[in-house]
Amino acid sequence: MKALLFTAHGGPEVLTVADIPAPHAGPGEIRIAVRAVGVSPADDALRSGAWKSFFPIPLPYVVGVDAAGVVDEIGAGVEGVRAGDEVYGVRVAGGTTAEHVVFDLWAAKPAAWTWSQAGGAAGGVATAAHALDELGVRAGSVLLLDGASGGVGAVAVQLAVARGARVIGTASPANHAFLRDLGAEPVTYGPGLAERVGLGSAGGAGLGSAGGAGLGSAGGAGTRVDAALDVGGHGDVTELVALTGTPDAVRTLVAGNAVHGVRLIRVDPAGVPAALASAARLADAGRLAVPIAAEYRITEGAAAHTRIARGHARGKVVITLGAE
Ligand SMILES: NC(=O)c1ccc[n+]([C@@H]2O[C@H](COP(=O)([O-])OP(=O)(O)OC[C@H]3O[C@@H](n4cnc5c(N)ncnc54)[C@H](OP(=O)(O)O)[C@@H]3O)[C@@H](O)[C@H]2O)c1
Repeated sequence: MKALLFTAHGGPEVLTVADIPAPHAGPGEIRIAVRAVGVSPADDALRSGAWKSFFPIPLPYVVGVDAAGVVDEIGAGVEGVRAGDEVYGVRVAGGTTAEHVVFDLWAAKPAAWTWSQAGGAAGGVATAAHALDELGVRAGSVLLLDGASGGVGAVAVQLAVARGARVIGTASPANHAFLRDLGAEPVTYGPGLAERVGLGSAGGAGLGSAGGAGLGSAGGAGTRVDAALDVGGHGDVTELVALTGTPDAVRTLVAGNAVHGVRLIRVDPAGVPAALASAARLADAGRLAVPIAAEYRITEGAAAHTRIARGHARGKVVITLGAE
């Protein structure tokens, strides 16, 4: 089968499409014929070698951790799924940018999503759902997502809104209308974030007073923030701690930002199938979209990685396989 892999760390040009043996479904696993795969900043970091000191990977390495496709093999002990079913899922060990992939964490693909949307969804859904659970986000919560417009953030906004939370999301100004469409109140990221969002009654200003462009906190009383998730890992987490009042109410997705008592999110695989199934129900109810920033074919892997490294995508970058 064809797979997108690299044999040595380096720039996007080290990616190559090679023929490798197809995997087979072992006990508890299914195999799919892949139709679409998500591309994420983690793929870029794994390929470049940026993570090799703390997350070594075997080479050659087939890139990608999530995918969607059609079930074509079922391992021993697997129930509730048949050949021909359409599914989306995650493979923690990677290897999903290939014509076939074996999953042990999956759910039925929602009919509402295209293949690209399903292929790019699973990593973001699994991560966002786990983070919202750890932060205790529920109806009435005020959640700040720092870096809300990317692959994980766009999903996290919608999952939190579906729980009944009020969501404040940071993005570059060009992505503010996009965040509003997803259900978040946009604010620009970067130094001074705590002041822009509003530090309770102490600061007094809040976003509502900032030239009318802010969050509309009535009377300039500032905005109470119950929980904050550092999605992109670019900002200063002490601003998030200042907004929530405690590092216990803050999590980060990026290891380098797990400082000042802020803990790193580590997704528990045991919760992934239920999170994917729940997200699929929301999607079919019209409450969870997966915005697609760009689509590439497997032969365009270097271009896809170059796009993800550039940042500022609006939603997911995906690679599609099989029929156009
Ligand atoms: N811990 C885990 O289990 C886990 C799981 C999945 C992903 N991750 C990590 O999570 C991170 C985010 O993934 P992603 O796919 O959502 O990335 P992405 O699609 O590249 O999105 C990055 C987000 O960061 C924003 N951003 C850019 N510069 C910023 C700045 N200076 N301050 C604050 N925000 C800024 C972007 O906004 P604009 O585009 O508007 O500039 C965008 O909203 C990656 O580092 C990934 O490796 C961790």
